[in-house]
Amino acid sequence: MGSDETDKHMRLREELAKQAEDSAERQHKRGKLSALERLENLLDPGSFVELDPFVEHRVSALGMDGRRRLGDGVVTGHGTVDGRTVFVYSQDFGFMGGSLGEAHAKKICHVYDLALENGAPIVGFHDSGGARIQEGVASLTGYGEIFRRNVMASGVVPQIAVIAGPTAGGASYSPALMDFTLMVRGMSTTFITGPRVIKQVTGEEVEPQVLGGADTHASITGISTLALDSEEGAFETIRKLLGYLPSNNLDDPPRHVATVPSATIEGVIPADSRKAYDVRAALEAVVDEGSFLEVQPEYATNAVVGFARFEGRSVGIVASQPAVMAGVMTIDSSDKIARFVRTCDAFGLPVVTFQDVPGYLPGVDQEHGGIIRHGAKVIYAYAEATVPKVTVILRKSYGGAYIALGSKHLGADFVYALPGAEIAVMGSEGAVEIIYRRQIAKDPESREELLKQYSEEFANPFQAARLGYIDDVIEPEEIRSRLVSALWMLGKKRVKPHPPKRHGNMPV
Ligand code: HXC
Repeated sequence: MGSDETDKHMRLREELAKQAEDSAERQHKRGKLSALERLENLLDPGSFVELDPFVEHRVSALGMDGRRRLGDGVVTGHGTVDGRTVFVYSQDFGFMGGSLGEAHAKKICHVYDLALENGAPIVGFHDSGGARIQEGVASLTGYGEIFRRNVMASGVVPQIAVIAGPTAGGASYSPALMDFTLMVRGMSTTFITGPRVIKQVTGEEVEPQVLGGADTHASITGISTLALDSEEGAFETIRKLLGYLPSNNLDDPPRHVATVPSATIEGVIPADSRKAYDVRAALEAVVDEGSFLEVQPEYATNAVVGFARFEGRSVGIVASQPAVMAGVMTIDSSDKIARFVRTCDAFGLPVVTFQDVPGYLPGVDQEHGGIIRHGAKVIYAYAEATVPKVTVILRKSYGGAYIALGSKHLGADFVYALPGAEIAVMGSEGAVEIIYRRQIAKDPESREELLKQYSEEFANPFQAARLGYIDDVIEPEEIRSRLVSALWMLGKKRVKPHPPKRHGNMPV
């Protein structure tokens, strides 16, 4: 190699360093970290290996002379998180607003291809004004190529998106196609059409954060898996999330040290089934100490989903939440649960379900909103899932919700119920009004006695136990040990393959 080439290499490296410095300065002024700093914060120290740093857009062909930029506004490469390989990309808002040009897109596709070939998760930091306007259709094709890879990678390697600034227009679809999307309050926004276009078209005036900020997507749309207070929080959250997941669908998740919960379940579940309680207190008392990581905690809060560990092994948890609308099933909670069960199934995590559910929310809004279609997704997801499935009926288990939330009939390996569980077609109040309507009309006094009779006969776990639909009735203190032994036993579960098909047709 001649000294001219070495000099050129050195000059380019200096240019890259200068660019990184300028970007950092611009981003810091906006209260944000630079693209490179984000990767350095996420990855194990010194592990980042940059790829394609010298890639540039085709300047003259695109009429953007003078706006040359090594790397074309995105930093890509690989590194490790807790010693495991992760592929990464991070958009640099400091160059043309992080907009996506053809070369920028090719760099992202390159790391996606590597992630798929090598079976490693991919993490992307999105901070972009969307398709680079000056590149026209070339930038749109870039999105198409990325979306195709998002879909190909789905269910093969975990995909985590951080929306770390604006993510406008079609750009919003890539995070939506990934498994987990983190957003930062006051910093992230994502929408298909922004406030200016909305004002032009509909006359509505709305602030960007209200339209598509972290809180909006965490609580109203469910697009954001977690809303964080700072971008520093995102690094820790990603590391935690990856800690529950295998690197790919053929690997096992990492094993952690087993820990015993310090909380006790005694007194958590009120005997009176009309009394509310926070199911998270029950979860904390059965999973490994401190291992529960709730996802989508602000969306459809009548259901709780998240990751946890039993004796150091990862599981997915689905629980109805009696503290919110008595834990009833709704359109949104159905979507939340169905998506989560499929995530667990894709990555081989057992699904542990805790039922305390009075059924589906009655109402015109729910019916017209498509509760049948959305509720069907839950049935579909549980029936389709081949991972170990264990269900605990804590208290109420009524009607369609008894079936949908991990029943034996949809393929649960084990179903346990507490002695106070109520497993029936519907609650006693509704049931006696239907089956004893005439009798109550003639003799209203008889209602109380009929309610009592119904509860004794139907609202208990023993009818289901007699019929073999639950495997055992257990005491609350036994939940953890039963789950530990069930999950241990099911560790080598063999699955009867599904009938051959191209793919199923889940109601969406
Ligand atoms: C080229 C862009 C750009 C874009 C921003 N910039 N968006 N350049 N293409 N899409 C440039 C700006 O010109 C500016 O350059 C720099 O980035 C910073 O932008 P500002 O507007 O100064 O910053 P800010 O006020 O923070 O606003 C950021 C923003 C706004 C909210 C992202 O720039 C914006 O609304 N951009 C357009 C967003 C949008 O509508 N995108 C959709 C594109 S269509 P200088 O040189 O002044 O620093 C799309 C379809 C894809 O994405 C379809 C796929 C299926």
